[in-house]
Amino acid sequence: MGLVVAQQLTGVDDLHYGFWDEGVKPTFTGVIAAQKRYTEQLVDTIKKYSGVPSETRILDVGCGTGLILKELLDMGYAVDGVIPAAYLKKQVDARLEQTTGSYQPKIYECNFEDFPLSDCANQYDIVLYSESYQYISMAAGFPLMKKLLKPDGKVVICDFFKTEHAGDGGPGDGSFGGGFALSDFYTQVDNHGYRILLDNDITRNISPTIAVVDEMLMQRMYPAIQTINAFMETRHPYWTGLITWLLRKRLAKMKFKYFSGYRSQAVFERYKTYHRIVLEMV
Ligand SMILES: C[S@@+](CC[C@H](N)C(=O)[O-])C[C@H]1O[C@@H](n2cnc3c(N)ncnc32)[C@H](O)[C@@H]1O
Repeated sequence: MGLVVAQQLTGVDDLHYGFWDEGVKPTFTGVIAAQKRYTEQLVDTIKKYSGVPSETRILDVGCGTGLILKELLDMGYAVDGVIPAAYLKKQVDARLEQTTGSYQPKIYECNFEDFPLSDCANQYDIVLYSESYQYISMAAGFPLMKKLLKPDGKVVICDFFKTEHAGDGGPGDGSFGGGFALSDFYTQVDNHGYRILLDNDITRNISPTIAVVDEMLMQRMYPAIQTINAFMETRHPYWTGLITWLLRKRLAKMKFKYFSGYRSQAVFERYKTYHRIVLEMV
C-alpha cells in the first residue's frame, strides 16, 4: 500500500532505493538516475554469478512493477515473477507486452510463501530479491528456495537489515520499519546450509535516497498537509475534529514515522545496513 502511494505521488516506477556513487549530490531529480544505477549494479551482479542468459532461469520474487524483470528478459534471461498485489500484477503484465526477449514469463500472483512449487521444483538458477527479502519470513523462504533452486543455484539479495543498534531507544529508533536483524540473517544462512559468496555493504550509497525523501516529506508534504488541515478546520470543524479524534492513534504513529524529522539519513545509517548479497547452497 505504502509503495503504491509512493508510486502515485512521485510517478516513479522503480520501487526501490537509488544507488548514489560517491560525490553524486542527492537531489529529487537525481532519484531516477540513482535507481537506474541500482538496477545496473544488480544486473552486473547477476551477470557475474550466472551463465549464458538464455540458459539461466531466474525467479524475481516481489517483482514490483516489473522493470527489473523486463530488463532481464530483454537481455535474454528466462525470468518468472512473483507478485502478491493485483494492482502491481496489472502493471507487470502491461510492461511485459513490450518485452523483446523470446522467453514467455510466468507471473505468479501470490505471496512467495504460497508459491506453487510443483510448477518448478529445482528449475531456477537464481532466486532474486530486489528489496523484497525483508517481507518474507526466513523460516519459510530458505527451505522454499532450496526446493526451487538447481543444485548450483544462487540467491541474490539486495535489501536492508537491522543493525546491532536497533531497539536501543536512541533518537529515531523505530522510525524506519522493516528488515531482519543482520546477525539473525547470518545465523539462518548457516543453519539452512547456505554459503555467502558476496556481501557488499552499500548503506552509504543507498542512504542518500533517504535524505531526498526526508526533504520531500518535511519541506513539501508536511507544509501541504498543514495547509489542507487548516482549511478543513475552518470549513468543516466538526467533521475534521471527529475524524482527527477517531484516527488519533494512527495519525500519531504516522507523524512520528514520517514527520518527526527522525526519518533522516543519519538515523537510517545507524539502524539499517543495506547489503547486496549472493548465496549458494553448501
Ligand atoms: C520495495 S518493493 C520492490 C519491488 C521490485 N523488486 C523493485 O526492486 O523495484 C517490494 C516488493 O515485494 C513484494 N512483496 C511483499 N511481500 C511479498 C511476499 N510475501 N511475497 C512476494 N512478494 C512480496 C511487494 O509486492 C513489492 O513488489
